[in-house]
Amino acid sequence: MKINNTSIGKKNVGETVTLYGWVNRKRDLGGLVFIDLRDRSGIIQLVVDPKSEVYDLASTLKNEYVIKVSGKVVLRKEANKNLKTGEVEIEVLSLDILNKSIDLPFDLNNVTALEDTRLKYRYLDLRREELKNNLMVKHKVMQSARKYLNSLDFMEIETPILCKSTPEGARDYLVPSRVNKGCFYALPQSPQLFKQILMMSSMERYYQIARCFRDEDLRADRQPEFTQIDMEMSFLSQDEIMNITEGLLYNIFKEVKNIEIKLPINRMTYDEAINLYGSDKPDLRFENPIYDITDYFKESDFSLFKNIINDGGIINALVFNAADKYSRKDIDKLTDYVKTYGAKALAFLKYNGEFTGSIAKFVNEEIGKNLIRSLDLKDNDLILIIAGDKKMVKTSLGALRCKVAKDLDLISKDKYALTWVTDFPMFEYSEEEERYIACHHPFTLPQDIDGLDDKENAKAYAYDIVINGYEAGGGSLRIYNPLDQEKVLEALGFSKEQALSQFGFLLDALKYGCPPHGGLALGLERLTMILCGTENIRDVIAFPKTTSASCLMTEAPSKVALKQLNELHIKISE
Ligand code: AMO
Repeated sequence: MKINNTSIGKKNVGETVTLYGWVNRKRDLGGLVFIDLRDRSGIIQLVVDPKSEVYDLASTLKNEYVIKVSGKVVLRKEANKNLKTGEVEIEVLSLDILNKSIDLPFDLNNVTALEDTRLKYRYLDLRREELKNNLMVKHKVMQSARKYLNSLDFMEIETPILCKSTPEGARDYLVPSRVNKGCFYALPQSPQLFKQILMMSSMERYYQIARCFRDEDLRADRQPEFTQIDMEMSFLSQDEIMNITEGLLYNIFKEVKNIEIKLPINRMTYDEAINLYGSDKPDLRFENPIYDITDYFKESDFSLFKNIINDGGIINALVFNAADKYSRKDIDKLTDYVKTYGAKALAFLKYNGEFTGSIAKFVNEEIGKNLIRSLDLKDNDLILIIAGDKKMVKTSLGALRCKVAKDLDLISKDKYALTWVTDFPMFEYSEEEERYIACHHPFTLPQDIDGLDDKENAKAYAYDIVINGYEAGGGSLRIYNPLDQEKVLEALGFSKEQALSQFGFLLDALKYGCPPHGGLALGLERLTMILCGTENIRDVIAFPKTTSASCLMTEAPSKVALKQLNELHIKISE
């Protein structure tokens, strides 16, 4: 039986052990050959003496050769504190080369290669400590989730991968059916409808580590296929569902990182999150909220601001105690940044007992007093101000808040700031589709079933769990009354026929005694990213896709043979 390199230590001194692994590095020093032998568990140092029978063979070893060695465990003269096995080394008695490796496309110990090269040779990249550790963290998250949910009587149930399309905002990946000419399956964007149907089938508590597929524009925290820790529960209130999720997160942080997160987790409404932080996923590792200073400029001489206010706009500000760190040029760069969010300009003030900056001449005594009081100004404060319509002002200041905090290094790396964001809107306007769509999904329970006409203000029983500025999970209570479901589909613009053809099975199932139910799904990769401290989702996926949704190792997607297309009744139009 193979033993782990890192199980060897001081306690084994004097024993003879047999180890397997890869040559991580070889060094010839004063006649002795030193080899770092690597296996999944880590590295142990081997030493080959020039007098040894295997010395010549050891001299031929190259990086990534696979070897088997037997040798004596001895104490090192000087321990290597960077290695778990650093107190000992192995004096090699026998050596077998089990397999050779050709020269590597990049150095595994010092990666300077572009990510594309690493993705092409993913099997090599995964040998690196960092990625191996990330996959280990993900493994532990899944184990911890299973353990916790099993202990609460949840049942793990699989749902199909070949499904009917469920509209959840993204485009579907379609799979043509050979036997049903012209028909397509959709890969699930999530198991949403199946898990609700399972509640209607009296399963009461379901979970699944579920694969999801969404054909959407990719970002650093988004992949076309990803995994959810997906849950659904019957007969529980929103608070109870949130408490169960809090317990789940508590256990994961404790078991994976030995960190005890503070319970109960902070809660804020969607409106509070937007008003104070300009985002529905606020990063609360730093404070610096957005202040509304509209009122102070209502009667000022500053006609630009006054006009904006008269047109129904707002004036909002951020404060950072860093006036000395921002030159005019730096502010110009911030202005360019907020312009990408639709802001026309960025005004600024610096406070040092008095106001200077781009709009200082409009700050009369009264406005000055109001600003000092309401923004709690201190010397060296920098005040960044944007005026305009509410959505633009909040979004640009929300983004600027994170950018400046990052620039000023205000975000401590080992801090975890968790918050719930609740009371999401029921609908959101889609510029692309030029209509209101469901903010969460069409099965979310509205807070007021009779208030669906007021699309801008209707609220849902929907909640997200946000960690360090990432949406780590989201869920909602579901509609469990068939008439209410029909009303919501109608409000979303589905005709009766469309509703029946897309969700006939759900509308039928709702009629046979559906329990009140709700749930939530955590993004497994997002959670793992946060726990691993990486901002790149590809770092926590064994075989990820690039931003153009391709796999550089296997070269998927690829063209297929004409015969395959013919069988599927598909013709490619040029
Ligand atoms: P939602 O669409 O909010 O909800 O997804 C839940 C969580 O999944 C993660 N996530 C992603 N992770 C990586 N790449 C993606 N493309 C991606 N899209 C989403 C996020 C997100 O919070 N069925 C509902 C859940 C429910 O209502 O129970 C759903 O899928 O972390």
